Amino acid sequence: MLSAVRLSPARSCANRRPDASSLTEKSLMNILLLGGGGREHALAWKLAQSPLCTGLFAAPGNPGIAEEATLVDLDLADHAAVVNFCRTRSIGLVVVGPEAPLVDGIADSLRAVNIPVFGPGAAAAQLEGSKGFTKDLCREADIPTAGYVRCTSADAALAALADFSLPVVVKADGLAAGKGVIIAQTREEAEEAIRDMFGGSFGASGAEVVLEEFMEGEEASFFALTDGTHVVAFGSAQDHKRVGEGDTGPNTGGMGAYSPASVLTSALQDDVMARIIRPTVTTLAARGTPYSGVLFAGLMLTADGPKLIEYNCRFGDPECQVLMMRLESDLVALLLSVGQGKLDESAGPAFSSDPALTVVLAAKGYPGTPEKGAAITLPDAPAGAKIFHAGTTLKDGQLVASGGRVLNVTARGTTVTQARDAAYALVDQVDFPGGFCRRDLGWREIAREEAMEAG
Ligand code: AMP
Ligand code: GLY
Repeated sequence: MLSAVRLSPARSCANRRPDASSLTEKSLMNILLLGGGGREHALAWKLAQSPLCTGLFAAPGNPGIAEEATLVDLDLADHAAVVNFCRTRSIGLVVVGPEAPLVDGIADSLRAVNIPVFGPGAAAAQLEGSKGFTKDLCREADIPTAGYVRCTSADAALAALADFSLPVVVKADGLAAGKGVIIAQTREEAEEAIRDMFGGSFGASGAEVVLEEFMEGEEASFFALTDGTHVVAFGSAQDHKRVGEGDTGPNTGGMGAYSPASVLTSALQDDVMARIIRPTVTTLAARGTPYSGVLFAGLMLTADGPKLIEYNCRFGDPECQVLMMRLESDLVALLLSVGQGKLDESAGPAFSSDPALTVVLAAKGYPGTPEKGAAITLPDAPAGAKIFHAGTTLKDGQLVASGGRVLNVTARGTTVTQARDAAYALVDQVDFPGGFCRRDLGWREIAREEAMEAG
């Protein structure tokens, strides 16, 4: 039963045809989505539902995305080829999923030829591309975050270590696929991390190191859309970063997530907007490098209020999957208003109050060396649930695992408990003996729901 892996010819996207009275010809468009993971499958699924979308293309995509879009073979590092494709296909909006092409300036190359793009240019994407850049911006704009020192040599970092108490956080400055952060419990561990990073274990990303104070609290993710001037909140989520149940074992890209994060109350969200998000947007605009796209703030909810752990310049993966599952607004209209600098003219996002939860099915061995090639057979998802493809490929017509995180089994419910139950019921119907998942996702929120119920 491989219903989710039909490879289709050119896809026209809207399930609903445009209502001619409310849409002009001009607002209908072809869209190009860059990326090929679970986040991009969720984006493709939502973009394809928009009556504004006449044709959806994706590069490189994956077998799940192929259900929604026409896959194209484009080298994302070859900006001229991407621009050329956009011109040939009259692309009216490019949506960039992952951080690497953004840090590499794909949005600049597209904006330079007036192609609307959702995602920041290289200068603003430094918010994710360089941890030191973000820390300096926080200092300049008085944004609450952990105290830090930037170091460009092992000797300087080893000397600076004396000023920090334990545990201390050692970070490679550049992109490290979520692996460049060590929370050192001892000085020896911190020294080893510093030597490793400057010794090249993270390549050029470790040529500079940031030492940070350790912050205590609960973590939550907060999202905001901005066109460089206007800003709107775009929901919250909580991720499960550790591979093992009870939040144990090594860090991963994320083993599952739910949205919203009730711990981020609306009062706290207002505080985050006022003291973290808006000052960031204003400072980057004042520097002449406005940020356009989604700002993904990793927050620590400390006893002194929310503090910024880090920024990402893209949607979270798998946080995006739960946000898209809850989004009721037209995603094309929203992202286009960001790309065109007209976010103030948009109605803003509307989300279902029902929570959503996603379970990551990973290939055995993840996050070390995942086993590739294991066969997968998918069930049909019921209403209110969806299986997003993250690391899959087709081999001789059979769906197989091709990455560490393979599937994102996602469901909505009236409570997180119900969303979790629906997601795991679907997980149990997936035939993927080469995979595994955590069975305790949502535990924080479910404990809160149980406590509420108990009165
Ligand atoms: P990052 O890649 O910066 O999000 O860091 C990965 C993880 O390390 C975060 O999700 C936190 O769990 C943890 N972390 C990073 N910086 C700090 C900090 N200053 N204090 C406490 N935990 C941190
Ligand atoms: N799930 C965390 C991230 O996307 O960075």
